[in-house]
Amino acid sequence: MNFSDSEIVASILEEEGYVSTKEIKDADVIFVNTCSIRDHAEQKIRKRLEYMQSLKRRNSRLVIGMLGCMAERLKTQLLEEEQVLDLIAGPDSYRDLPRLMAEVQSGRKAINTLLSIDETYADISPVRYDSNGISAFISIMRGCENYCAYCVVPYVRGQERSRDAASIALEAETLFHKGFREVTLLGQNVNSYTWTSNGVKTNFARLLEKVAVMNPLLRIRFATSHPKDLSDELLQTIARYNNICKAIHLPVQSGSTRILEKMNRGYTRDQYLDRIYAIRKYLPDCAISTDIIAGFCDETEEDHKETLSLMEQVAFDYAFMFRYSERPDTLAAERYPDNVPSEVKDRRLREIIDLQQKLSYQSNKQDAGKTFEVLIEGFSKRSDAYFSGRNSQNKVVIFPVTGNKPGDYIRVKIDRFTSATLIGEAC
Ligand code: 5AD
Ligand code: SF4
Repeated sequence: MNFSDSEIVASILEEEGYVSTKEIKDADVIFVNTCSIRDHAEQKIRKRLEYMQSLKRRNSRLVIGMLGCMAERLKTQLLEEEQVLDLIAGPDSYRDLPRLMAEVQSGRKAINTLLSIDETYADISPVRYDSNGISAFISIMRGCENYCAYCVVPYVRGQERSRDAASIALEAETLFHKGFREVTLLGQNVNSYTWTSNGVKTNFARLLEKVAVMNPLLRIRFATSHPKDLSDELLQTIARYNNICKAIHLPVQSGSTRILEKMNRGYTRDQYLDRIYAIRKYLPDCAISTDIIAGFCDETEEDHKETLSLMEQVAFDYAFMFRYSERPDTLAAERYPDNVPSEVKDRRLREIIDLQQKLSYQSNKQDAGKTFEVLIEGFSKRSDAYFSGRNSQNKVVIFPVTGNKPGDYIRVKIDRFTSATLIGEAC
């Protein structure tokens, strides 16, 4: 999400005549796009600001701004705490950056943290910097109104709003003509996407279809799905199109119904498992990944064991795993004490990570001997003798270089694997 926002900001600044540099020491303006989701993310940003202070001592004209969620959360408090900052802009005020810059240029500190009910930056064509030229993100909605008890997103990114379906399709088409072969449609909860134009309603399944029919050579991915809104209609649509990738990211957060209720997730363990069975029914070869939080308020050993047993039951292919971090102003921070001791959180997280490593290894082991269609992204990180790409299930596949080029599809037979990568030969 943040990466996609940075591309929008780059586009707005390019219009104003700014050019980007890869060398931070050459920059006259540095914008730090921030995340607030865990305390750790914010602490890292504060450390980066210390480094920027040293750059500013060398170049007194240097302008330093903070953008995104942390800017939104802390607002003017940040200007007081972080003297190095000249400018603060929340996630809905990027169009105001030229005016904010002018204010800084006239010697004042500048801030805009107003949230909007309709800003989607639909008409802004993001600058694809730092891109492999093959895969790109398309933001299809902003904000979130699910108010999961632990989560700061609804407070820092505002109300949920969907972006004009026609502008999404146009962006995908433009990317395809520029040589891109994969787009990832992004939103906090893509399953609740909805857009009505001339009385015609487009839900997420229809949107996916609209992009999929454009060209069979354009792969489509999406994230993130919310288990409470994952419909059979969507799964049937994914099944119908070969170019809609068979990989679903479905954050579970906990395997215990008691904790899920406390988290305000809107589903029970059994309802989550029902969605997993539906995925397996319609999309037998679909990869399933998840997010898990260890040590949420009041989580007992029993609850934790339920998370481990759910992980085994689903056999997730991949997971992002976090230790619970209390965020100010959230429902949990207001209502529940953060009462799982730190060392218990760490131990539970370790058990979750260890189990997932086993599951990822098993998942890759099952792929040995199979043949996949792989979209080549470029050379592998380790060696120019190997290409690296992904299969539909979003697994990284490495194989010896062929006469192909990035952007080509190729069939690869898997003969070896690690817990992170599949290795094979083109066939
Ligand atoms: N503490 C730990 N993890 C969190 N996440 C969101 N908020 C918190 C928090 N306060 C995790 C969730 C979410 C992912 C993006 O980040 O698992 O799905
Ligand atoms: Fe946060 Fe829940 Fe919204 Fe995801 S769905 S962004 S976890 S509030």
